[in-house]
Amino acid sequence: MSALHGLATRALRLLDPEDAHRAAILALRLGLGPAAPPDDPILAGSLAGVALPNVVGLAPGFDKDAQVYPQMLRAGFGFVECGTVTPEPQEGNPRPRLFRLSQDRAVINRMGFNNYGLDTFAARLYGRGPGVVGANIGANKDSPDRIGDYVEGLKRLWGLASYFTVNVSSPNTPGLRALQTKAALEELLGRLAEAARTLPPPDAVPMLLKVAPDLEDAEIEAICDVVAANGLDGVIVSNTTISRPPLRSSGRNEAGGLSGAPLFALSTDVLRRFHAAAAGRFPLIGVGGIGSGADAHAKIRAGASAVQLYSALVFEGPGLVTRIKRDLAQRLHADGFRSVSEAVGAQ
Ligand SMILES: Cc1cc2nc3c(=O)[nH]c(=O)nc-3n(C[C@H](O)[C@H](O)[C@H](O)COP(=O)(O)O)c2cc1C
Repeated sequence: MSALHGLATRALRLLDPEDAHRAAILALRLGLGPAAPPDDPILAGSLAGVALPNVVGLAPGFDKDAQVYPQMLRAGFGFVECGTVTPEPQEGNPRPRLFRLSQDRAVINRMGFNNYGLDTFAARLYGRGPGVVGANIGANKDSPDRIGDYVEGLKRLWGLASYFTVNVSSPNTPGLRALQTKAALEELLGRLAEAARTLPPPDAVPMLLKVAPDLEDAEIEAICDVVAANGLDGVIVSNTTISRPPLRSSGRNEAGGLSGAPLFALSTDVLRRFHAAAAGRFPLIGVGGIGSGADAHAKIRAGASAVQLYSALVFEGPGLVTRIKRDLAQRLHADGFRSVSEAVGAQ
């Protein structure tokens, strides 16, 4: 980490977490973020057919409103997922709603899809430069037709995003995760697949489903079958957890989704179970608690074709991505692999 970025990251930790996040976005917009060195070619990969310069991505929630994706690509992420965006702007839950659990290297959030809505999001992607930028789409809290909201997101952002993520796994919009149950998921994915068929080329834009880590084996099997039956291109495992592994920090009893280091074991276990249930029918992205090259390596070996992270940035700053990639590349070389794809699922 450069001395300047290290100092800035430590200074931000003195602020309220949401103010710190706003300050970080502002600093990035002013061009104060790092510029990464070129990638080791061993880190290249693909995301459901989209070529990635490296397989380490920025998870959604950091750049909800597509404000700083060029800066985060420049900082070294191989892809950036913006959102979650809902059709209408919404404020989300009252503050405070974001909590740093520093002793646990964890975060609890109950943001509730605060975002500026599809108009602003689409305008920020329009005419964008190169790089893989995904759009994570969701539903407004008070929408009378939640599935219609996802369809609207897909239609409005068609041709602007490199891929879409259908987010049915945020714990902070009441009832949203019920869309993971078989009948609801069949309707949701069926309507999205139908809408995609009516949209003009390019028709090869991947659509992925993002799931919670709090799932039983039977639910995992059912999700994999519905994903495959509807021709979806992959699953992202996982969102934050509503469970509470043992934690030490004072914010541990806050309501919301837990992310960061304590999510690593749970989300990697669920990833491994998805890898078995998917049985090669579609690829997986691993996310949850990645804070080092060793963590990214473990996700890939558990079945992830690419990985994403967010919470570790809160503690380490954006220079972390370069350190993770350096360490991951060393580990892949030491294993004797020639590419990430050779390592996927190699337990
Ligand atoms: C403050 C915050 C906001 C988030 N917002 C979203 C979101 O809008 N959509 C989404 O799919 N995931 C969201 N996430 C979840 C992350 O994308 C990721 O799945 C999760 O935090 C686990 O990864 P991590 O441990 O590396 O943070 C959010 C996470 C945090 C900490």
